[in-house]
Amino acid sequence: MDAVTVIPAFGNNFIYVCRYAGEGALAVDPCDSSTVLRAISDKKLQLTDVLVTHHHRDHTAGVAELKKMTGCRVIGSDEKRIGGIDLVVGDGDVVPVGDTKIEVIATPGHTGTSVCYYMPTASEDGRGIVWTGDTMFAGGCGRVLECGMEAMWESLSKLAALPEDTLVYCGHDYTEENFEFALSIIPSDPAIQHRLKEVRQVLRQGGYTVPSTIGQEKKTNIFLRVAEPVVKGALHMDDASAVDVFAELRRRKDRF
Ligand SMILES: [Fe+2]
Repeated sequence: MDAVTVIPAFGNNFIYVCRYAGEGALAVDPCDSSTVLRAISDKKLQLTDVLVTHHHRDHTAGVAELKKMTGCRVIGSDEKRIGGIDLVVGDGDVVPVGDTKIEVIATPGHTGTSVCYYMPTASEDGRGIVWTGDTMFAGGCGRVLECGMEAMWESLSKLAALPEDTLVYCGHDYTEENFEFALSIIPSDPAIQHRLKEVRQVLRQGGYTVPSTIGQEKKTNIFLRVAEPVVKGALHMDDASAVDVFAELRRRKDRF
């Protein structure tokens, strides 16, 4: 049985259920309680914790019902805007969960209080997992809504510094569109061309475009490649800083 169950919801959201220590499980950004409860019961798991990356409704809508039905603990960073948080966390906090642990990485940008959760040994083969919410997507990043572009760029840079084999599970499936956008900027990039082909094949077969890895993202996520001459050149920003190139890319993606 895989450690992670991917539950698609609301058209393009991903909810995750992650098994640990035998029967324990945590859910990430459960916008829908019924599908999570079904997954838990099908796999005979016990939901102990819910991780919330940020306050948007399409990440939190199922939290209250899951807490009511299972008594699980709700972990999040923004108690003012997320109802029912039991454990308020911030940057650098480490939360032990069964035989593993969760490290909290503050990633302001999409919202002022967005966090990502890194579990260094959570996958079957002992690799790390990072739950990135709407901060990093496969091939992209979230809209910058409540912070400056610099904050988002710093947040993405923190995620990029995780071990390359870390599995990245993000909050939405915008993967195909993200690579299409990247190729609209640097059309002949072989790594991105290859990823888009792969992703389309996965989608055709009814699969999910998650997880990717931090290593893959560093090679093919154009938002992480803003220091590269090929990206700067394509935007006629050869002498600009990485942050300025990132900001220009993000603005273009908003209109894509
Ligand atoms: Fe969001």
